[in-house]
Amino acid sequence: MANITFSSVLHKDKTVYAVAGSHKKTILEIAKESHVPIDFSCGDGQCGTCLVKVSSVKQRSKRMGHPLTEREIAVLSEMGKITKAQVEQMAIDDLVPSEWRLACQMVMRDEDIIVEYPSR
Ligand code: FES
Repeated sequence: MANITFSSVLHKDKTVYAVAGSHKKTILEIAKESHVPIDFSCGDGQCGTCLVKVSSVKQRSKRMGHPLTEREIAVLSEMGKITKAQVEQMAIDDLVPSEWRLACQMVMRDEDIIVEYPSR
């Protein structure tokens, strides 16, 4: 299990313990359940409203959750948050290439993370 610390300059930091079953939940779903006000619109990986910056509490770990979804790749590329080279590298080494994620698409793994919002 893992802890998620939601951090924002506009709100007090909140750390949430991700319980069993949350591996299928997105960061946005966990935020909603925890009353963390991350902005969102489509909820379906198309608008980019839920853009967040994710880092691992253990600095040496670079996984930062489930790999980018196709929708994340498309939206983050359009927003200029990842490059084509980073996407190609992700396919080779299976590492998440960017700290930028879409909260409605990212699924937790067993790692403690910090989610910064709003991120733009
Ligand atoms: S809410 Fe639209 S991309 Fe996440």
